[in-house]
Amino acid sequence: MSQRRIGILGLGSYLPERILTNADLEKMVDTSDQWIVERTGIKIRHIARDDQATSDLASEAARRALNKSALKAEDIDLIIVATVTGDMPFPSTSCIVQEKIGAFGAACMDLNAACSGWLYSLDVAWQFVKNGRYRRVLAIGSEKLTAITDWKDRNTCILFGDGAGAAIIGETDGGGEIISSYLGADGRWGKLLYMPGGGSRYPASHETVDTRLHYMKMEGKEVFKQAVIAMARAAESVLQQAGMKAEEITWVIPHQANIRIMSAVAKRLAVPFEKFIVTVDHCGNLSAASIPVALDEVVSAGKIKSGDTVLLVAFGGGFTWGSMIVRM
Ligand code: ACO
Repeated sequence: MSQRRIGILGLGSYLPERILTNADLEKMVDTSDQWIVERTGIKIRHIARDDQATSDLASEAARRALNKSALKAEDIDLIIVATVTGDMPFPSTSCIVQEKIGAFGAACMDLNAACSGWLYSLDVAWQFVKNGRYRRVLAIGSEKLTAITDWKDRNTCILFGDGAGAAIIGETDGGGEIISSYLGADGRWGKLLYMPGGGSRYPASHETVDTRLHYMKMEGKEVFKQAVIAMARAAESVLQQAGMKAEEITWVIPHQANIRIMSAVAKRLAVPFEKFIVTVDHCGNLSAASIPVALDEVVSAGKIKSGDTVLLVAFGGGFTWGSMIVRM
C-alpha cells in the first residue's frame, strides 16, 4: 500500500524594498560596520515602510507561494501566521491575511513561539493534513520587528529586519515529504528575551512608553549560549527520531540570528559549515520569518534541489526551539 506523502507544495517570500545598512546604523547609535559584521555577520537588513504591517508582508509572501504552487486562495483550508509582531492584539493577523488574499474558506490562527514560530506552525500544519482534517494549510512566518526595535539600544537595534516567508503544506503526490519534527520550550528563560509592554501585564500607558516597555529586551550573551546548546540538541533529537545520521542531511537551514551561533552549532553537530545556509548577512534576524525566507531563497536559486534532505532548526524567545527534517 502506498503511503501518503505530506510536504511542501509551494514556497514564497517577501522582503521590503527599503534597506538599512551598517553605515546607516553608525549614524544612529555608537557602533561600527566592523563590529556588527564581526559579531553578527549582518551587513544589511530590509525595513518595512511605515504603512506596511506584518499582514502586508505575510500576504505578499502567501500570494507568491500560491503562484508557485499553482493553487488558488480558495484551495487553502487553514492559515497559520507565526509572529510576535501581529498587526494588533485582535483580530488575528491570519484573519487579516485571509481577507487580503481572499482565502475566505480557511480557518485562521496566529501562533507565537518567537523565532521558532514557523517550525511550530509547520508542525501544526503537518498534523492537520496527516489526520485528514485539512487538505492544504498555509503556514506563514511574518515579522515587522522594526516596530518593536529600540533604536537607542545598540545591543539590539543592529540585529533585526522585516520580512515574511510562506509554505503551503499538503499531499505531494509522491514528491517531497516532511520526515520528522521536534518541538520544545522552557518558560523559565522568558525574561532573557522579551517585550514586557502592551499586553495585560503592562497595558499601554504614558508610564510604559516613558520606560520603553514597548521594545524588545535581550540578555545577548546568555541568549547566544542557550541558542547554541538548544539548537544542537534539537537537531540531534530530530535526527534520532528519524533514525538518520547527520551525514545524510544535504543542507541545514538554521534560524538566522547570528553567524557565530550558526558556526558553533555546526561544530557541535560535526557538520561542515558549507552545508549551512546563511542569509543573515542580507536579512538580519527575521524571527519567525527567517527560516522560510532562507528556504525560499535557496530553492528559488536552485541551490536546494528536489530530493535534497534539509534539516531546519530554530531557537527563540520563551525559550522555544524546534527542528524538522524535510525531503524536498
Ligand atoms: N556596537 C558596538 N559595540 C557594541 C554594540 C554595538 N552594536 N553592542 C554592544 N556593544 C559593546 C557592549 O556594550 C560591550 O562593551 P563593554 O565591553 O564596554 O561593556 C561589548 O560590545 C561586548 O558586548 P557583548 O554583549 O559581550 O558582545 P557579544 O560578543 O556577546 O555580542 C551580540 C553581542 C551580538 C548581541 C551577541 O550576544 C548575540 O548575538 N547574542 C544572541 C542574540 C540574538 O541573536 N538574539 C536574537 C533573538 S534570539 C535568536 O534569534 C536566537
